[in-house]
Formats: sequence, structure tokens, C-alpha cells
Amino acid sequence: MATMDNLKEAFAGESQANRKYLAFAKKADEEGHPQVARLFRAAAEAETVHAHGHLGVMKGVKGTDENLQAAVDGEGFEFKDMYPGFIKEAEQEGNKEAVRAFKHARAVEGIHQGLYADALKAIKAGTEPDDAPIFVCGICGNTVPGCAPEKCPICGAPQAKFTEVK
Ligand code: FE2
Ligand code: FE2
Ligand code: FE2
Repeated sequence: MATMDNLKEAFAGESQANRKYLAFAKKADEEGHPQVARLFRAAAEAETVHAHGHLGVMKGVKGTDENLQAAVDGEGFEFKDMYPGFIKEAEQEGNKEAVRAFKHARAVEGIHQGLYADALKAIKAGTEPDDAPIFVCGICGNTVPGCAPEKCPICGAPQAKFTEVK
């Protein structure tokens, strides 16, 4: 079924375009081009519309319990299989920057898996996860419910690098 493969590919491409354009927008702002930044942000938003459209056609969004299970599985794959293999290859190739980036991601995906698993447990028990803000490290992505640590335990960044997600 070519169309299912094409939907997957289009979803991946549109998702990547969204994140890339947001990074380009940030750069355009830094370089003093606010209108270009706005154009990148607008196109990024549109790519999200396309990505979500493709995902919807693939029936990629289920009920919250199934979505949490999919998230647990996805994070687990990245944490246990994908990143360890990538780290090994980056080490063999002597790409220290890639080793560092992959190690940050591996550590954080493990944390995500745990947070998703806890949330799934709560939902299955008929309750809700804790009502607390969540802080994200702008350097490594570390995801910490409650309050931001003084120093990121994964990358060492100071508290000011964390942003709150409500
Ligand atoms: Fe698009
Ligand atoms: Fe993750
Ligand atoms: Fe961090």
C-alpha cells in the first residue's frame, strides 16, 4: 500500500519542516529579520497542519490511554535501542558532539518513558497524574515535574535554562 508509506513519509517530512522553520525563525530574529522570522513561523504552523492532517488520515491518534502506551513504547525504543546504537557509532567515528547530543536525548527519553508510564498508570486507575508544572531544560531537554533543579542533573545547565510548561 503505497499511500500508507507515503503518508508516513509526508508526516515525517512535514514534522521536520516545522521544527526546522522554527529554528530558522529564531535565527532570523537574532539576525534582525523579524518579517522573515514571521514568515518562517507562519509556514511552520502550516506544516503542523499538514503533519497532523497526514497523521489523522493514518489514524495515528487514538484515545489517551492508547496514545500513552504508544508514547511509552516509542520512548522505550529510543532509550533502549536507538540511541545506544547511535552513541556507539558516533563514538567509533569520533564525533564527540553527536555523542553528547545522543547521550542527552537517551537520558531524557528514559525520563519521558517513566513519566508516561506513571501517567498511564494513573489513567488506568481512574485518576489523573499530579497537577504540577513541568520544567524543560533548554540545553538537554530534561523534563522535570514540580520545580526546576538548581543545576540540570543531565547536562549541568543552571536553573535559568529551564522553562515552565503549564
Ligand atoms: Fe507542508
Ligand atoms: Fe522523548
Ligand atoms: Fe539539561
